Amino acid sequence: MQKTTLITGGAGYIGSHTALALIDAGQQVLVLDNLCNSCRESLKRLEFLTRIRVDFIEGDIRDTKLLDDIFSRYDIDAVMHFAGLKSVEESVRQPLEYYANNVVGTLNLCHAMARSEVFKLVFSSSATVYGAPRKIPIIEDLGTGKPVNPYGRTKLMIEELLTDLCLSDPRWSIAVLRYFNPIGAHESGLIGENPNGRPNNLLPCLTQVAIGRAPELTVFGGDYPTVDGTCVRDYVHVVDLADGHLKALQALQRRNGIHVWNLGTGIGYSVLQIIRSFEDITGVTIPFRFAPRRAGDIAQCWADPSKAWRELGWHAQRDLMQMIIDTWRWQLCNPQGYRSQPELLASIALKQWV
Ligand code: NAD
Ligand code: WQD
Repeated sequence: MQKTTLITGGAGYIGSHTALALIDAGQQVLVLDNLCNSCRESLKRLEFLTRIRVDFIEGDIRDTKLLDDIFSRYDIDAVMHFAGLKSVEESVRQPLEYYANNVVGTLNLCHAMARSEVFKLVFSSSATVYGAPRKIPIIEDLGTGKPVNPYGRTKLMIEELLTDLCLSDPRWSIAVLRYFNPIGAHESGLIGENPNGRPNNLLPCLTQVAIGRAPELTVFGGDYPTVDGTCVRDYVHVVDLADGHLKALQALQRRNGIHVWNLGTGIGYSVLQIIRSFEDITGVTIPFRFAPRRAGDIAQCWADPSKAWRELGWHAQRDLMQMIIDTWRWQLCNPQGYRSQPELLASIALKQWV
């Protein structure tokens, strides 16, 4: 019988794109998600895209009994662990929620895996664990820094927990994937990022302005020591990230211990460059104004992704233009996120745009 990969947080933004990549590669998946930042509609659309039924359990990774039940009922041989809370701003206001969800949740998951002798894990980490980088581009071996918010600290704690786990028992094989700035959406326009409430990240904020839901974009800081005074980041397409997960899972078949890989393009773009590119590609003008620097922002960072290329055969294939086109298509087709009716809207939106 075919083994199953458990995808925690698989109804969310990166998890749903990765579930699609795994299914497309012929793998069996089971999604576990408590839907605190997602909805069933993303899974329905996955089923539409793949033409297969996606096994889904609504539940929480902190529910020990549920996890034991899942591991006993399904023939799981690996876990992709996306479930967690991810808002930097919220983590400052609600640190206990973040430590409980992210750290305790991961602890629970690892316990349940160990009890069921499932030792392969791919973990969603973040470039935030580097803190303010000493050297750019960032290489994995430079070591982690000091994350400046509770969210970042949960990611670093989990990385340390996973490292200790691998030292304690050689049967574990764990991939820690440090994402840079994920953006974009599946090219179908059917799945994408669907933030609950007010978005904080640059691209969701920018597209809110583009569709007229916000009057202008606030650019945090114009006096950084960068190419044009605004912050520089390494934006990476979510479909490339999904492919990175597939390759990391394959790599775990051949190696034990913990392995860390940066998933980024290796190219940095400033906030102003993103705005200008968006305007050039979509033809939509983005009104913006400068505001003081946002607390905790670093001036610039981008990845050295060569380790992922050497060891996984992975590199990002989609450029900034593709990322913007796919982000915009998702936004146009789904002005109400997953509450939108995609087929109808897609035809209207694309007629207007093309
Ligand atoms: P997301 O919020 O869209 O997805 C996370 C999913 O986990 C959601 O569907 C949510 O409902 C679920 N979830 C949260 N807590 C849970 C719990 N206790 N039990 C079960 N399900 C739970 O976020 P995303 O952007 O897809 O991020 C996925 C992972 O990648 C997260 O761990 C995030 O920290 C990490 N990450 C994201 C980014 C980014 O910018 N999007 C960057 C670096 C790392
Ligand atoms: C990018 C740039 C902002 C919004 C965050 C998390 C990180 C990871 C990815 C999860 C910055 C500027 C933004 C706006 C702006 N997430 N900006 N106006 O901060 O690099 O990374 O998401 O792991 O941990 O910290 O991404 O998209 O929020 O910001 O000027 O309205 O855009 O100041 O320079 P960031 P971002």
